[in-house]
Amino acid sequence: MSKAIHDLVRGVVDGSLSDDEVIHWLRAVFEGGLSEGDTIALTEAMRDSGEVLEWGSEIANLVVDKHSTGGVGDKVSIVLAPALAACGLRVPMISGRGLGHTGGTLDKLGSIPGLSVERSADEIRQQVERLGVAMVGQTDALVPADRRMYALRDVTGTLASIPLITSSIVSKKAAEGLSALILDVKFGRAAFMVERADAAELARSMVDVANGMGVSTKAVLTTMDQPLGCAVGNSLEVLESVETLCGNGPEDLEELVCVQGGLLLEAAGLADGMQTGALMIHDSLQDGSALECFRKMVEAQGGDASILESDASLMRGLGLMDPDLLTTELCAGADGWVEDIDAMVIAEACLGMGAGRKELGDEIDRAVGAILEVQVGDRLEEGEPWVVLYHRDEVAPQTLEVLLGAITLSDEEVKPVSRIAEMIE
Ligand code: URA
Repeated sequence: MSKAIHDLVRGVVDGSLSDDEVIHWLRAVFEGGLSEGDTIALTEAMRDSGEVLEWGSEIANLVVDKHSTGGVGDKVSIVLAPALAACGLRVPMISGRGLGHTGGTLDKLGSIPGLSVERSADEIRQQVERLGVAMVGQTDALVPADRRMYALRDVTGTLASIPLITSSIVSKKAAEGLSALILDVKFGRAAFMVERADAAELARSMVDVANGMGVSTKAVLTTMDQPLGCAVGNSLEVLESVETLCGNGPEDLEELVCVQGGLLLEAAGLADGMQTGALMIHDSLQDGSALECFRKMVEAQGGDASILESDASLMRGLGLMDPDLLTTELCAGADGWVEDIDAMVIAEACLGMGAGRKELGDEIDRAVGAILEVQVGDRLEEGEPWVVLYHRDEVAPQTLEVLLGAITLSDEEVKPVSRIAEMIE
């Protein structure tokens, strides 16, 4: 079977297989599944369909990355990549753009004036060797098989297949030449996988396949019912990422950064356990070294690093003080403890305000979004604002109506719980 899989992937890339032939095979996998061995063979063949980053022996075991299945307010990558570099790891992070209600790291980084995310494989390699971190978009040379297969899956309703998702995600990460990988697999109403059992099944498949290919990989299953942190919207999320890189981030975001970073430091042998690694990441946020790595990366990629010097200039730089931007506060209708804030409602409101793409190729407005003034467990008094919307046009009354229902208050005190439900190794 593995030779047949290699031939298939070759035919996908060199065009000797027609769309119908590829679709026939994708449908067969979608309906019948694929064994673990064949999924590994497929993922390896996809990885090898293009350029694979190679690293010198002195750093090869330090090259790591993370992948998130996506959520609302998920800015973990923007904080984690420079924090890992500050702790001595090398991070060639290749990310995607956002679609639908979830944002993409590239769109968020695009709010930094001048910053370019287009780099060739050679440029990525050189920057990572020099600075420890690059955050860039997919190049044409990396995993060309996935581009054609993904496009055909998209138009034939065969996206939601565990082996096809596994091979698509893991092949792109493996092409970075990683020694270790952490997967943040989210579940909940604003996640790609709503049910925990489905997220666990995907995580198990990706962990087994990536380990089977020699990349030391673990997954964390994390909840995605409420937005992560307080900011939703591209430039607002960069602002919150910088606050977190300065050691002043929201606890839920910092926890995910520290735990995922701790696992990678342990896997690469720079920490003697996850807890020690998490403390190293925490220290890098407190002592300014993670921020410094971020600043150097922004400069190296042509971005205006002066925006990192103070909050006010950051906000101006990101267009948050755009005089045309309108703000609307929504206030609590009663006293209570915050029990829930529906991430899906917040995300759809932001999408409606122009923060995201409904379809690939849509223009986005990087300045608009929402800042939550409270998180689960906080106390609110009647009339206090719980969210501020940053928008360009008037927000439709029905959107405001729906948003008012996004928050649930309780008369009883609410204790916030960790977003990490489970680790899969
Ligand atoms: N992300 C990917 O890159 N591929 C998939 O198949 C699903 C999510």
